[in-house]
Amino acid sequence: MAAQTENADIVDCLNWRYAVKKFDSTKKLDDAVYKKLEDALRLSASSFGLQPWKFVVVTDPEIKAQLPAFSWGQTQPQECSHLVVICRIAELDEQYVDRYVSKIASSRNVSVESLASYTGMMKGFLKNPADKKHWMEKQCYIALGTLLTAAAALGVDACPMEGFDADAYDRILGLTDKGCRSVVVCPLGYRAADDKYAQLTKVRFDAEEVVIRL
Ligand SMILES: Cc1cc2nc3c(=O)[nH]c(=O)nc-3n(C[C@H](O)[C@H](O)[C@H](O)COP(=O)(O)O)c2cc1C
Repeated sequence: MAAQTENADIVDCLNWRYAVKKFDSTKKLDDAVYKKLEDALRLSASSFGLQPWKFVVVTDPEIKAQLPAFSWGQTQPQECSHLVVICRIAELDEQYVDRYVSKIASSRNVSVESLASYTGMMKGFLKNPADKKHWMEKQCYIALGTLLTAAAALGVDACPMEGFDADAYDRILGLTDKGCRSVVVCPLGYRAADDKYAQLTKVRFDAEEVVIRL
């Protein structure tokens, strides 16, 4: 099946995509296409809009070459064009909320004071979350979903990956110093012509089994 174009039907795009096991390492995303995917990541929804993430983009071949050893032997992080490591921020504290509220105020031309009750709600939520780290990781998975859908719509191949050693990635990529922790990774690029997984029939439960209509 041919790569999708920007005008393709979204369901066709989602049928076209699959979790790529083997990328063609000679094919690179051009800058304009990559920029759209980066914009899609940045535009992801998040709870309260707090965006508790960083997106670390690795294109350096020497860094990528170190990663299969810490990816359950999977080679996609090395062979892809752009490796996106979706990270949560290390600390989500009241200062972070204040920075976000300032951003709302400047973006919408309203005063910080007018946002006091929203600010209080966020700070209240963060004071006692059942698991703040887990909550931030959930937001990272929303960004992953947005990225996968955007990639499919643009005819870019991807592989969502949890099969990696997060501590090793954090060390190799120097993430602790950057104030973040890796959560999930997404190699982007173009499938190798001989990736046999491209030919496999999609396995999805029928709508009757997963959709409950009331
Ligand atoms: C969060 C997440 C983690 C995944 N981790 C891996 C992985 O480490 N390696 C891999 O080859 N596929 C991984 N997958 C891909 C799934 O196996 C794949 O999406 C699923 O089997 C459905 O197939 P499809 O995406 O090709 O339609 C992951 C998918 C998700 C959503």
